[in-house]
Amino acid sequence: MLDSKIYDVLVVGSGGAGLSLALRLAEQGVQVAVLSKFALTMGSTYYAQGGISAVFDADDSIESHIEDTLDAGAGLCNPDIVRLTVTHGKSSIDWLQQHGVAFTEEQTATGEKVLHLNREGGHSHRRIVHTADATGKAVSLSLIERAKEHSNIYLFEHHNVVELITRQNTDKTTKTIVGAYVLDSQKQQVKTMLAKIVVLATGGASKVYLYSTNPQSATGDGIALAWRAGCRVSNLEFMQFHPTCLYHPNAKSFLISEAVRGEGGRLILPDGSPFMHNFDERAELAPRDIVARAIDHEIKKRGIDCVYLDISHKSEAFILEHFPTIHRKCLKFGIDITKQPIPVVPSAHYTCGGVVTDSYARTDIDNLYAVGEVACTGLHGANRMASNSLLECLVFAERACVDILQKLPAITNFSQVPDWDESQVIDSDEEVVVSHNWDELRHFMWDYVGIVRTDKRLDRAMSRIELLKKEIGEYYSNFRVTSDLLELRNLVIVAELIVRCAQQRKESRGLHYTLDYPETDNSKTPQNTVLTP
Ligand code: FAD
Ligand code: SIN
Repeated sequence: MLDSKIYDVLVVGSGGAGLSLALRLAEQGVQVAVLSKFALTMGSTYYAQGGISAVFDADDSIESHIEDTLDAGAGLCNPDIVRLTVTHGKSSIDWLQQHGVAFTEEQTATGEKVLHLNREGGHSHRRIVHTADATGKAVSLSLIERAKEHSNIYLFEHHNVVELITRQNTDKTTKTIVGAYVLDSQKQQVKTMLAKIVVLATGGASKVYLYSTNPQSATGDGIALAWRAGCRVSNLEFMQFHPTCLYHPNAKSFLISEAVRGEGGRLILPDGSPFMHNFDERAELAPRDIVARAIDHEIKKRGIDCVYLDISHKSEAFILEHFPTIHRKCLKFGIDITKQPIPVVPSAHYTCGGVVTDSYARTDIDNLYAVGEVACTGLHGANRMASNSLLECLVFAERACVDILQKLPAITNFSQVPDWDESQVIDSDEEVVVSHNWDELRHFMWDYVGIVRTDKRLDRAMSRIELLKKEIGEYYSNFRVTSDLLELRNLVIVAELIVRCAQQRKESRGLHYTLDYPETDNSKTPQNTVLTP
């Protein structure tokens, strides 16, 4: 079924990247459709805790933020992109405030109200702008409210992109995007949605792992869609594991913010002894890859289930003011963080690699952009520094907006595209195949492609991926699509791309650590891993 409208811009994703871009475009008179495969709030943005990095402190500087980002990125950040992003920190925060986001403030000695700044791992200064410990919720709700009010924005919840639609350019080698096939999962109907510009703002892929801090939407759809359409992807071996996810049998995916360590939280073993100083002189405030690997090491060496994060030496009033959400959530599980240490384990958190984009968020396909966690801009290199991700969403949404506004008037011709053909498929009578394959994929990715890798483990993962790909491919050809099937089909492709990137890197660097090549190869200029379809 063809959607009657041809949109100026079709934005796939209603997180920080998608909505900030949609608002910027709509404010310039552009007609934008925004798709979300679940409810509008269901993305990582809503769950972000710590905040957004930006230079506000008088003792801090742009140069210091750049240096810390480059250091965390372990030699693979693009310095121009880092500078571009960091210099837009303050204006991005201003933009959010203008759009209704209320950040936590404090009063100076002279009575002036200023933004309160948190500190997180890898940052040499306090520079995390935040709304207590629920920054993402504040950002997400404000942007959704503004988007709902705007007459140029058309919001489509429960709309899941099945496939991008492209046409071949006359040079026969390059392509232009013209729209997408989209499953309306409430009506179980696939629509054809045409647009002059399409933007992937679909978030990351951490749900490829058994344990993850991410919401259910993070199945790497944008990476798989772009790859199938013909875009390069890069650096997917750098999957980030957050060091501190709540460990409790009934707690699913709840993050304990790095800001807890920033405010003096100490990591301890079950006997109460600290251990981070044995791994890095920055101890709890070392970059994430180092802290996650140290915890993984202690857990495996000692055969323990978890380590503990202790902030109970701070006053109750301080904890309640700074970490109300974490306090409330832990209390629900019988853990009073004002008195007890919190059981924590590392968990898959962030996808540093993704669809290759330039400094205007343009991909390899004409008029197709990728913004936010789905993209690989060069900002994060081999390891993202805390709170640089929301900043990247905002900055690259602004960059994409500039380019799209300039490009839109020249896009006129539209080819006819065939509707989605369901004549050869039937309803599935074996949904169990989908759920079984989901579980299997996430289990072996956790076991074989996790924090510590080896060549053998990667080979084992790849042979299982090949079997699953075949089975899922056959299932997709024979049965009517469902949201679960679409996600599984995308996840298995992303898993393959992660393993292929990891197999190409014959060294340990940043988030990629392998026992077969435990050292960083400093004998030559470090290279990004790039895969071409
Ligand atoms: P998301 O916010 O994940 O949004 C993706 C959107 O795409 C969703 O609307 C989803 O429905 C939609 N979508 C996906 N696939 C499809 C499809 N096929 N069809 C239609 N729609 C689709 N970063 C920071 O900088 N600071 C923090 O404090 C911080 N804390 C975090 C805490 C947690 C618990 C988590 C999980 C992440 C945190 N991060 C943080 C990372 C950061 O939140 C994310 O990287 C960022 O929010 C990603 O934004 P996004 O707009 O790219 O994607
Ligand atoms: C956190 O609050 O620890 C998450 C910050 C981030 O992922 O950037």
